[in-house]
Amino acid sequence: MVLTLTTFLLTLLSIPLLQKLYTLFYNAFLHPLRTFPGPPYVWTDWYKCYNDVYLNRNWTDVLKELHEKYGDVVRVGANELHFSNPSVYNDLYSPTHRWDKDGALYRVFNQDESSFGYLTYREAKARKDILAPLFSHRATCEMQGIVKKHLDRMCEALGKREESSDMLFALRSFSLDCITTYCFAKDVHASSAEDFKHPLVEAMDAAVPAIRVLQYFNPWRKLVFGLPPWLAKLTDPNAGARVELQDMLLEQVKEFVEDPKRMEQTSNPTIYHRLLDPSNGPVPSLKSLHDEAMSLFFGGAESSGNVSMLGTWYILQNPSIESRLREELREAWPDLEDMPRLEDLEKLPYLTAVIKESLRLSPSVPVPLPRVVPPQGATLSNHPIPGGTIVGMSLRFVHQSEEIFPDPQTFNPDRWLGPDASSLNKWLVAFSKGPTNCIGQNLAMCELYMAFAALFRRFELVLDGTRSEDLTYSEGFLPFFNPRHMRAFCRPVEA
Ligand code: HEM
Repeated sequence: MVLTLTTFLLTLLSIPLLQKLYTLFYNAFLHPLRTFPGPPYVWTDWYKCYNDVYLNRNWTDVLKELHEKYGDVVRVGANELHFSNPSVYNDLYSPTHRWDKDGALYRVFNQDESSFGYLTYREAKARKDILAPLFSHRATCEMQGIVKKHLDRMCEALGKREESSDMLFALRSFSLDCITTYCFAKDVHASSAEDFKHPLVEAMDAAVPAIRVLQYFNPWRKLVFGLPPWLAKLTDPNAGARVELQDMLLEQVKEFVEDPKRMEQTSNPTIYHRLLDPSNGPVPSLKSLHDEAMSLFFGGAESSGNVSMLGTWYILQNPSIESRLREELREAWPDLEDMPRLEDLEKLPYLTAVIKESLRLSPSVPVPLPRVVPPQGATLSNHPIPGGTIVGMSLRFVHQSEEIFPDPQTFNPDRWLGPDASSLNKWLVAFSKGPTNCIGQNLAMCELYMAFAALFRRFELVLDGTRSEDLTYSEGFLPFFNPRHMRAFCRPVEA
């Protein structure tokens, strides 16, 4: 039988459609996860995208509803499960698990050859082991001068302003200055910009919403990341500063690779002092060095600022919390000119409790961090989970748990001070847990101790018309806040 051209073309066109129909049928009736409860829309794999992009809903809000309806393990994608029982968090992100990351999310960032972007446990662990000494508690204590210098600069800028200041951008500028100096010995002077609107701070702020969309459209994502710098700047006005930073970091990498002696001239040890040290193994490729730089920059530029801004808001809502904090700080820091060192701030119980509570109520990385169950399968929440399944859990289900943190919406530092408080520590998962937890947590904690101490010791803070609605955020990988940020007048105190 000879096919006519029309029949041939129709047959050709119908193949992808038939494949899609088969996938749908397979996901519904044959898939190993078919017995797990969940909405039928997950058979299509577009359910999350529909909520994120079309309905503009935060995925964790959807997850909360799904768990209310279907129980504590829900099939949320064709091959994906989400858990809501807090005890599963420490199991899923356990230090003993060597589970890989799921590329569908982590490829979005275009940092494939970095501690953050490597998908396999083996590669990520090898890289983190090299970098770890630079981010240890000891190293952070030794390099706290960097954080203090940038803190002073931010405080000076805040104190000079007659008008109110954008507190989100002020605190993010501080984080950004810290990370570029700490990791690359480059000072970008972010907190010197008028009202803290440094182009890099604005560029970073604009990048997070884009990630929420780009993760679903791979060809588009590749196109965006593949644009030559001049075209990227032309198509997206916010991209300029980011592209310039990328170029600057690439130049630095090339300089150090070509002539490692130049590293002797930096003001402080950088990530390259570790990565280019031959005793740490083969020198990574240029791409890998650049990916690492970008991942540390993105990891370190925003989150600490988000946490300290939100914590400041909560403290200012509650005069008794504010006065207890100020009292403790005044006692530990009597002479304004002589700020206590990090090691002394860390010993202050109320300040520590305020920071923990700020971390608990801040979104940190709000989305579930997807991991792939190894081929032999695993047991989670008493359920056998087939190998290859993507599993994840948003920290929101831990930090907002009524059983662990009664009255979870209330900012209550006292919950970290009671006789049983130390048992709560394992439920503070803002930096995640296990082998892929945050490499920068000691630096982040240093920034938080210093920022909270300085804001509530050096200033009287008065909100400028900020309402709780202004503090709402949407979820990209990181949160992005309502454009009307928290604003406050920061009046320096005399003594
Ligand atoms: C309060 C501030 C911070 C919070 C709440 C935070 C939170 C997190 C979380 C939840 C993860 C796990 C992400 C995942 O598994 O996909 C993570 C990873 C990471 N963070 Fe942070 N972070 C903070 C500050 C920093 C800083 C200052 C740096 C820079 C040194 C940094 C660099 C990184 C890197 C490189 C990773 C990837 C680690 C890995 O995948 O193995 N973070 N962070």
